[in-house]
Amino acid sequence: MTSSGTNPDPPAAVGWAGAWEVLLPAASAPARARGRALQAALREAVRSGLLTPGVRLPSSRELAADLGVSRGLVTEAYEQLTAEGYLRSDRGAGTWVGGAVRAAVPRARDLAPRDRGARADFVPGTPDLSLFPRAAWSAAQRGVLAELPHHTLGYPDPRGLPRLRTALAELLTRRRGVVADPERVAVVSGVAQATTLLGFVLHARGVRAVGVEDPGSPEHGTLYASAGLDVVPLPLDDEGLDMGVLRASGVRVVVTTPSHQFPTGIAYSARRRAELLDWARAVDGLVVEDDYDGDFRYDRAPVGALQGLDPEHVAYTGSVSKSLAPGLRLGWLLVPASLAEEVVERKRTMDLGNPVVDQAVLARFVERGDYDRQLRRCRRAYRERRDTLVTALAEHFPGTEVSGIAAGLHAIAALPARYGPPDHFLTSTASAGIAVRSLTSYTRTMSDHHGTDNGNDVIRLVLGYAHVSPTHIREGIHLMANATRSH
Ligand SMILES: Cc1ncc(COP(=O)(O)O)c(C=O)c1O
Repeated sequence: MTSSGTNPDPPAAVGWAGAWEVLLPAASAPARARGRALQAALREAVRSGLLTPGVRLPSSRELAADLGVSRGLVTEAYEQLTAEGYLRSDRGAGTWVGGAVRAAVPRARDLAPRDRGARADFVPGTPDLSLFPRAAWSAAQRGVLAELPHHTLGYPDPRGLPRLRTALAELLTRRRGVVADPERVAVVSGVAQATTLLGFVLHARGVRAVGVEDPGSPEHGTLYASAGLDVVPLPLDDEGLDMGVLRASGVRVVVTTPSHQFPTGIAYSARRRAELLDWARAVDGLVVEDDYDGDFRYDRAPVGALQGLDPEHVAYTGSVSKSLAPGLRLGWLLVPASLAEEVVERKRTMDLGNPVVDQAVLARFVERGDYDRQLRRCRRAYRERRDTLVTALAEHFPGTEVSGIAAGLHAIAALPARYGPPDHFLTSTASAGIAVRSLTSYTRTMSDHHGTDNGNDVIRLVLGYAHVSPTHIREGIHLMANATRSH
């Protein structure tokens, strides 16, 4: 997101590689409209914050070659946008995104519904929605409507229905090792709302910056920025957040995904978990733990939540978005005692609480063991899909390394350089109707060698597999091999 660690910039920038992907449609506009389409797409990429001030653009020759358009068209687009103040150029030296523009609207691209027209879709983030337990959910719904007393249909406790808070406290204690008193559980509309709530509460307390993992979830940055906080990207090493950079950054709040880092797929080591908590105690800070897919581990029992080790320095959040469906918009937030009242007050002023019937249905679903059954069913399916993906990659892209722990809904695949260069690989997959994300598109700080990882040509893909059937995984990887071989 930022080219320097403390720059308060627009949310969710994805670096040049991601921006380049949004220019592609302009390149296939009808010849007469192509120049204007390219200018509009580039302008929008800057205005929306996808490209941040200081990012260096590729040379007109390189971009023209990547997009398959004439160099004159790119030169003209650069000149036009430089005149308008979106870009700044230094003759002979290069072209950069200018500093005049401030992104006004958080980018919604990553929250937009996925492209259902894709021939193969490996975009991560969604569970298999066909596994939604319709029969059990509708039985719970009928049961709840029959038993809910009239008075419960009034304005709810903004913390959530007591019955649901009790059910969640039991569930999170048992499954995730969370320290969860029902009085301290807040029901929210997903991790997204938990993030926004925390952002507002922290801002009101005078916090001005929050550290996020880089690479990381674009939503973390977008949502904290929307609450007025500066978002500071912090690099990772093999064990988790780089503690040296974290300490030097000066932030006192940091957002993490320790059980299964998004998107790299690593699990924080025991040592790094301890170091993170030591840091939080030393600076009187806060670690926000986003446990978005912590229930899905295929090689061993899930590692318990960080929050269990120090509930007064960790805010814990999760949701049913990966286990049931993101469209339910139901999740939970547990914060240290010192923040609890402010969080509830924010929740009250935000929406007066979540819908009561939905909360009661989830409570019943959890109480009756349906939630555990659903997790077991999904885990079996997703483990098989991950194995299928690994096998298909080995067959069609020999030499590929799949990294990250066997967990969650996505894997990282590093394809050998001979399938590259990455930009061409991504162009070929996009033209073949294959929806796939590169790891660089989740990176906020720019590497100056656009489209590649630290200058080498390994192609790192973030492959979501949970929502794809084993047959479609095999077909999709086969399709990808055909599309990239013929390039
Ligand atoms: C890292 C991460 N956290 C949380 C979520 C889910 O957010 P929510 O619970 O608001 O649906 C996602 C969604 O893709 C995610 O990638």
